[in-house]
Amino acid sequence: MVVRGGGDCGVFEGLREAWLGRSFPGWKPVAQAGRTVDLKPVVQLSLMGEKMAVTLQDVTRANFDACVLLKVREDQRVLVAPNVLSLAQAYVIPSLVPFAICEDDNPVGFAMYNRVDEVDPPYYYLMRLMVGAEFQRNGFAREAILLLLERFRMEGACSEVRASYADSNEAVEKLFASLGFERVGRINERHEVVEEGGEVLVRLGL
Ligand SMILES: CC(C)(COP(=O)(O)OP(=O)(O)OC[C@H]1O[C@@H](n2cnc3c(N)ncnc32)[C@H](O)[C@@H]1OP(=O)(O)O)[C@@H](O)C(=O)NCCC(=O)NCCS
Repeated sequence: MVVRGGGDCGVFEGLREAWLGRSFPGWKPVAQAGRTVDLKPVVQLSLMGEKMAVTLQDVTRANFDACVLLKVREDQRVLVAPNVLSLAQAYVIPSLVPFAICEDDNPVGFAMYNRVDEVDPPYYYLMRLMVGAEFQRNGFAREAILLLLERFRMEGACSEVRASYADSNEAVEKLFASLGFERVGRINERHEVVEEGGEVLVRLGL
């Protein structure tokens, strides 16, 4: 069973203090409900330790606004492209697969991958991953990657998945390491292996 509550953006900080603070531990933000002009942050308390349902959902007309409005923390903006840019790229490059990371049906994060087929062996490349600032540290990214790995294994088209990240990205480094990804070197923007510069490349066998 879950209990939900919401409030206007203007008082959200106050609500956060009240609901997410010491007096009511356990409440956490789950979504911004309403339409673009009328955003009402929603907080939710899971009773009796019930696990929230995380799903990977296509970006559709219904959840487009919510996906685009998801933002990482100010200091994380250099680490990932805005979701609107990723969606624009997916519009012109059909091999890109964007999706929303949802709790129930509410987008809390966004990711995008593609299948790199022109090499032997082909691999999946997770090129974008973000969780909205207010939803971070709730296990959404971990759960989303686990679901994605299941999807890849079911599809069975590639024997490994790769990802890359900036050296400074300690959070994602820990996340991938905890899921068994191993560090294999460095790559540049053209995905060429380089000795220095570029990003750290990690892989996981499927
Ligand atoms: C990286 C990111 C997607 C993680 O999302 P999240 O839902 O908060 O991650 P989770 O709650 O699933 O955390 C899983 C593990 O990641 C690591 N982690 C996540 N956030 C962390 C942080 N701020 N500091 C240190 N470790 C962190 C921890 O090991 C954590 O496990 P733990 O909670 O048991 O310690 C999120 O921080 C984000 O959107 N960052 C900005 C964008 C970005 O860097 N994207 C990746 C580009 S390659």
